[in-house]
Amino acid sequence: MPGPSREQVLAPETLDDLAHLAVRRCLDLARPPYSESPEELTRRYLTPAHMAAVDIVQRWMTHAGMTVRLDGLATVIGRYAGSNPDLPPLIIGSHIDTVRNAGAFDGNLGVMLGIACVQALGQQGRRLPFALEIAAFGDEEGSRFPQAMLASRALAGSLAASALDGADARGVRVCDALGAAGLPTRPDIASLKHPGAIAYFEAHIEQGPVLEAADQALGIVTAIAAQRRFACRFHGTAGHAGTTPMALRHDALTAAAEAILAIETYCAAGPDGLVGTVGTITAEPGAPNVIPGEVFFTLDLRAPNNADRDEAADALRVVLRNIAKRREVGFSIEDLHNLPACPSDDSLSDLLADAVRSTGGSGVRLMSGAGHDAMVMADLAPMAMLFIRCAGGISHNPAESVEPGDVAAALRAMVSFLHRLGDHYGVNQ
Ligand code: GLV
Ligand code: MN
Ligand code: MN
Repeated sequence: MPGPSREQVLAPETLDDLAHLAVRRCLDLARPPYSESPEELTRRYLTPAHMAAVDIVQRWMTHAGMTVRLDGLATVIGRYAGSNPDLPPLIIGSHIDTVRNAGAFDGNLGVMLGIACVQALGQQGRRLPFALEIAAFGDEEGSRFPQAMLASRALAGSLAASALDGADARGVRVCDALGAAGLPTRPDIASLKHPGAIAYFEAHIEQGPVLEAADQALGIVTAIAAQRRFACRFHGTAGHAGTTPMALRHDALTAAAEAILAIETYCAAGPDGLVGTVGTITAEPGAPNVIPGEVFFTLDLRAPNNADRDEAADALRVVLRNIAKRREVGFSIEDLHNLPACPSDDSLSDLLADAVRSTGGSGVRLMSGAGHDAMVMADLAPMAMLFIRCAGGISHNPAESVEPGDVAAALRAMVSFLHRLGDHYGVNQ
């Protein structure tokens, strides 16, 4: 893609102010009513806390000069019209749901920076040739329902209608939760597909230590790692903790414990970038004097490429089955979620690297081990991602933090990127 013929950037103080506002909004969203708990930030898909965030994000977008709509899966989409109505829009998105006990910036910062880009253009009374659409997705983390990225998959056109029947830990299905949130319980999933975009762009905290080690505020994502999630169950026999000799037990939890360590050993010895995580576990019936009869745990497997991830999945299935067999307990494993590795678009990434360099960065490139809505939206349009340094690389943790100066650098790079892309598509106004 050609470089900019001309680039107009706002006075840095103004962009600095908008970056500060983006950070402040993330921090505001970290408290009730936008969090399920006053003690920690937890905002899961379609909870009252999520719907409160949907409401305030709609208001922020309207205030920034966008026309706003809410789609059938509670994605907020704000639109800032372009000067050429024949061009499809550029979508800038990220997510406003969180993991349990989350940091304030994962996902949220990308949405707030998208809104800040529109504010920056609006303050100048400027339009790009294409419209900008800012998307705030509600379900990137998968912290409530079995599948993740329901909302972005609906917009990208890759969601199966059966996903609406997935249930949370309390048995509430996605369709029930939509109804409780005041939305139609059975939206026509096919009609939620976006008609098409010139590109999808996402800014996100890095959630890892690479940028900090490279002494860079910003980086350009080369690709997003492949991921799979599984529901694993060991079925033993519940029994009396005092009367059942050790040799005669069929303990589901000790089987699971051996399985979890085997997963760790396998992944640690596996190919570069292979990671496996057991992040949730429940044991039933769950009493100190009862041998656990049933154990459920999730397995999250990721690798830079699909082949390494799938080879690990196949091997671990066998390892876990053999543990169950030896311990004479039952075992089942169910596929919950499968997203292939997703390369970023080269031309867009080069343009983004130019934009980052124009703001003083080196344009360092790095891989994303974390999943992002971008890996789903790549089905709809070429995607590019900008990473922002976060302290210590810490994320999925309340200690997550960003430097305001880094966020300002990100906003400057984003505005520069938009103008460069605008120059490619016609005359910025
Ligand atoms: C999202 O944060 C993920 O990578 O699981
Ligand atoms: Mn995220
Ligand atoms: Mn996350």
